[in-house]
Amino acid sequence: MLTMRKAATDEDFDLVRQVRMAIMPYERAPSVAEMRAAWTRDSLVLLVEEDGKLVGSGAADRSSISGAATVTPRVLPEFRRQGVGTRLLAHLWAHAATLGVAHVIAHTDDEGSRAFAERHGFTEVDRQVEQVRAIGAEPSPPPRTDVEVVTIAQRPDLWDVIYEGLAVQAFQDMALIAPMQATIAEWRTSWIGDPAAMFVALADGEPVGMAGLIADYDNPHRAENALTVVRRDWRGRGVAAHLKRLTLAHAAATGLTEVYTWTQRGNADMRRLNEHLGYATRLQSFTMRRPVAES
Ligand SMILES: CC(C)(COP(=O)(O)OP(=O)(O)OC[C@H]1O[C@@H](n2cnc3c(N)ncnc32)[C@H](O)[C@@H]1OP(=O)(O)O)[C@@H](O)C(=O)NCCC(=O)NCCS
Repeated sequence: MLTMRKAATDEDFDLVRQVRMAIMPYERAPSVAEMRAAWTRDSLVLLVEEDGKLVGSGAADRSSISGAATVTPRVLPEFRRQGVGTRLLAHLWAHAATLGVAHVIAHTDDEGSRAFAERHGFTEVDRQVEQVRAIGAEPSPPPRTDVEVVTIAQRPDLWDVIYEGLAVQAFQDMALIAPMQATIAEWRTSWIGDPAAMFVALADGEPVGMAGLIADYDNPHRAENALTVVRRDWRGRGVAAHLKRLTLAHAAATGLTEVYTWTQRGNADMRRLNEHLGYATRLQSFTMRRPVAES
């Protein structure tokens, strides 16, 4: 018999991770600790089982896009096309609709899942492109004279300063379907990558740029790029390329073989920079949205 229950224990959250890793092997899965840190009273995480066997998982939560919630139904491939996704989505939708939001967003990385979302009234509003960089011999770029570069491991005090001075600008400028929001609490828990791999450019002691890596403990050979941002008045001077080259050199020095990143379709500057640095496009993800008022 098919059962659906709320994830509560660390073991449950680990099962949610198993589903994610089976469906999205190309991307790091948040650890149980990261999932718990991101948990709020608006979060719903479900596990779907059949006679104790794992079938899928689901999540519904407030989105970092203002006025929206996200739903994430996931069904393991061998259990698809039997109506499980539809049942799961109904629960997630009902929860999302209680959050007082105007829209519900879902991300789909393949055409079948996109067809499922369209069948349930979602339409495409954006695309993300995954760019991948194979790591070889990566020489460290020569130091610049106009900025000093430090890591967050060396200067942990800078993390909150970057939120105020840089991240808030980045959220406003990112080519998203609606403004993005992250609280300082989320910034401290969900956005900080590997402090030794978070490179910050300082001009007159103030952060003017940042790039870094988020480790993948399940696949230690690869890492995801953290947020890359340059303060508006410092853009167009090669600071982002310099910082990203430092992350590539760090990746090589720590034995990584792959670094990947997701960029919005509209963010042509970031995609061009990545191409210039030798990243190749691997996947695209569709952002699907449905107004709550229709339900
Ligand atoms: C999307 C997903 C959850 C669907 O799960 P599922 O249990 O197979 O979905 P259902 O059986 O309830 O499908 C309902 C309908 O959606 C459509 N659909 C589902 N998968 C489809 C596919 N691969 N191709 C075309 N249509 C599809 C069909 O109309 C289907 O009805 P039918 O089987 O009678 O033709 C599953 O494919 C998945 O886990 N994908 C990866 C995660 C993901 O992208 N989640 C976000 C989705 S919004």
